[in-house]
Amino acid sequence: MVITIDGPAASGKSSVSRELARRLGWNWVSTGAFYRGLAFAAIQLDIDLDDVQALAKLTHDPVWSVQMNDSRTTVLFRENDVTDLIAHEDVGNFASKVSHYPEVRKALLDAQRNCSKGPQGLVAEGRDCGTVVFPQAQAKVYLTAHSANRAARRAAELGLDEGDMAKAQQQRDLQDSTRKVAPMAVPEDAYIVDTTELNLDQVVEKVVEYVQNKI
Ligand code: DC
Repeated sequence: MVITIDGPAASGKSSVSRELARRLGWNWVSTGAFYRGLAFAAIQLDIDLDDVQALAKLTHDPVWSVQMNDSRTTVLFRENDVTDLIAHEDVGNFASKVSHYPEVRKALLDAQRNCSKGPQGLVAEGRDCGTVVFPQAQAKVYLTAHSANRAARRAAELGLDEGDMAKAQQQRDLQDSTRKVAPMAVPEDAYIVDTTELNLDQVVEKVVEYVQNKI
């Protein structure tokens, strides 16, 4: 059983999907962690973010890994937990860059799909979870929110300037939605929720109601 939650930067995907997984007692994975982890490892190892061959090779290098449990997707680099470090918007931007390469996406796909192999169900969030990673998912959700609202949310979380955050997110959303392979897109059969005027509980209630009718 898989439920996917996709959407642009800071649309509420992580908080909503994590809470949904908690309520269902399912596993949760943030697929962005794979791209963030890869970009972080590349920077640490001085690998050029345009060197596709080296990036593709790095996808399978045990120097970094992603681990999931029901409430956290952990990224390890040289056995150190770097999950908090990869949350920075600059790592998000580097992640968006490396995510453009088909070779990189293909190499990370199996690892993301393997997350659904446990005995429990899986709630997966990202950009292409409903369209490419788990097209067979039982329920698909697409979260969206006005750009200014998303920037304000993430700026408050990270203690950064709202205007800078808005620019960075707009650039990232443009990159993610216009790339050639697996662009961010609304899955055909998705339930779309605009979270602009809603708080977390309200979004979770809507999503839970939709999901309960699907599984
Ligand atoms: O969800 P996030 O902010 O952690 O994602 C970081 C970047 O990783 C995002 O800008 C694009 C890429 N990404 C992707 O291409 N496909 C996914 N399923 C998840 C993330």
